[in-house]
Amino acid sequence: RVVAVIMVGGPTKGTRFRPLSLNVPKPLFPLAGQPMVHHPILACRRIPNLVQIYLIGFYEEREFALYVSAISNELRLPVRYLREDKPHGSAGGLYSFRDYIMEEDPSHIVLLNCDVCSSFPLPDMLEAHKRYGGLGTVLVIKVSAESANQFGELVADPVTNELLHYTEKPETFVSDRINCGVYIFTPDIFTAIQSVFTLRKETSNLRRMNSFEALQSATKTLPADYVRLDQDILSPLAGKKQLYTYETLDFWEQIKTPGISLRCSALYLAQYRHISPHLLATGNGSKSPTIIGDVYIHPSAKIGPNVSISANARIGAGVRLISCIILDDVEIKENAVVMHAIVGWKSSIGRWSRVQVSFILLSLHSHLPLPFLECKQKPGDYNAKLGITILGEAVAVEDEVVVVNSIVLPNKTLNVSVQEEIIL
Ligand code: GDD
Repeated sequence: RVVAVIMVGGPTKGTRFRPLSLNVPKPLFPLAGQPMVHHPILACRRIPNLVQIYLIGFYEEREFALYVSAISNELRLPVRYLREDKPHGSAGGLYSFRDYIMEEDPSHIVLLNCDVCSSFPLPDMLEAHKRYGGLGTVLVIKVSAESANQFGELVADPVTNELLHYTEKPETFVSDRINCGVYIFTPDIFTAIQSVFTLRKETSNLRRMNSFEALQSATKTLPADYVRLDQDILSPLAGKKQLYTYETLDFWEQIKTPGISLRCSALYLAQYRHISPHLLATGNGSKSPTIIGDVYIHPSAKIGPNVSISANARIGAGVRLISCIILDDVEIKENAVVMHAIVGWKSSIGRWSRVQVSFILLSLHSHLPLPFLECKQKPGDYNAKLGITILGEAVAVEDEVVVVNSIVLPNKTLNVSVQEEIIL
């Protein structure tokens, strides 16, 4: 029996995802037309003997209630949201619900970060984990040496795949193999987390005896019940024949910023072609959008590539959409152009308007194949040079206005053209 747990974090975690996380929890932001968390859930569904999926986070319960009940019905599999009263860290959060998880008497626990985009090769990873016979197996991928330091870097034995060394976001280069935030554990993971708690207690008792040292380290001390999977579990257990790695050659991205979400949407749309082609628009499938009255679509008409249009969107005649996410209740009026952009809920784009990236970026976007399409945004860099344009909720772009490489916060009306700006 297998239980899957997806760590969804909470409102304080999704801040780099603003303005898109202002009115929907980041895990529910749609990628390829489905909430971000839906993609790992569907991947979990492919694991044999999966009995339950838990989402663990510190968002309000009501924010997930609707989604969780809909997905449980659709998959005929119990999916449940468990709310932490405060953040306990990625391992501490798992530990706080150990009684629920162990109720199912699982032989394996699949643990996933919600903010990664991947093909999640879970059944193959589970098979590998059983062969290795360790406490845990970590999904890893090779990335460029320059980008590796944004992640947990690790070294594995090329023959046995044992995890030999692990450093979280190191300052000096360790390895171009990184932790993908996807794990399989045996229930012994709870004992490993428990021993971190015990160790913490012992050191804090020691510190109490040595008040000078206590003063020095007070600022560095984490709350006793806060345990991070990477620093507190993976690092100390590396090289002890307990942890193993499984390398994926397929796609993987971390979804921290809105800029990267367009690319992840494209990756999932491309995956639909193989695993759920019925979800892709063909213009003639049973799941096609409503066509009102007599509509003729000329064979030369173009939409896409990489376009997701959400519920109740109204797209006028002569509109051109390329690489964009159009969210619920958006209206795009006649002859507008939207390229490399995310258009927030209830926004409207006027006639002959353009919402796009700069021409330099546009040529970059269109001439390079997808994997080389680097997002210009750096972690924490909340500015406009991100290679896409984002309109928050209920933004109105008036007729003939051009919006280039900008972020527009919710409820703004744009009646003049803007470039490389953040409209607050
Ligand atoms: N429920 C809950 N409670 N979830 C949490 C908490 C918590 O207290 N803290 C973090 N999370 C969730 C986040 O929402 C995210 O999905 C995941 O746990 C990991 O978040 P972080 O601990 O903030 O780490 P990170 O995303 O910067 O990096 C981790 O993931 C990378 C892969 O995406 C590390 O493990 C890296 O080594 C790894 O490369």
